[in-house]
Amino acid sequence: MDKSLRKTILAGNWKMNKTRPEAKALIEGIKPLAENADCEVVICVPFTNLETAVEMTKGTNIKVGAENVHFEKSGAFTGEISADMLTEIGVEYVIIGHSERRQYFGETDETVNKRTKAALAAGLKPIVCVGELLWERECGITEEVVARQIKLDLFNISAEDVKKTVIAYEPVWAIGTGKVATSEQAEEVCKLIRDTLAKLYSQDVANAVTIQYGGSMNPANCEELLAQYDVDGGLIGGASLKADQFGVLIAAASK
Ligand code: 13P
Repeated sequence: MDKSLRKTILAGNWKMNKTRPEAKALIEGIKPLAENADCEVVICVPFTNLETAVEMTKGTNIKVGAENVHFEKSGAFTGEISADMLTEIGVEYVIIGHSERRQYFGETDETVNKRTKAALAAGLKPIVCVGELLWERECGITEEVVARQIKLDLFNISAEDVKKTVIAYEPVWAIGTGKVATSEQAEEVCKLIRDTLAKLYSQDVANAVTIQYGGSMNPANCEELLAQYDVDGGLIGGASLKADQFGVLIAAASK
């Protein structure tokens, strides 16, 4: 099987960080480091920085993503942002179902599924996050948990659309904790995700889907994680907030 069937994508998830002047400085720092990247480089930034990021990355190979999107087209949903609002300003990607949204904001597999469908319908590329809690791993149910999330989150999404969808495997216990999954653990679950996609769709479709690892990926551990056959890039939190660190990850993902 050929890994070049799919795109390697390195995406930063800035979470709730960076005012506009701080965002501008970070993007200026990332630009030269991404110039010769041999992978897709994406920065997912807070809503208030989206327009700035789109403007500043015009003519570069850096793509811009949002960190959430609502599933309705418009209406009385105070505080929410629609997919059309994102595409209209030039946003290409959107993170959906991040574990922080699941944990703190009541996101469920049902709403992840609805948001993913709305994003795809508007032409956005969703980055759908899945991953087990520490307790679930300790109970030995990682496989069931992740396969269930994949089935529910992608319910009724066509093969054509699933090929445009990025899956991010983020074990919740590895996020922001400095506790990284071993490369074997990351590969094991990313492969499980690909096998689940093969059962739901076909092996060809599964081979075409980009599956990222996320959770404390940093310059010291990225090479080994990114070298795994089923790991097609990363979704990076902390290390995406420092240009020099993100630059090392871009270089590793370009190998
Ligand atoms: P950290 O890289 O800070 O662990 O965050 C990972 C993450 O949640 C990316 O979405």
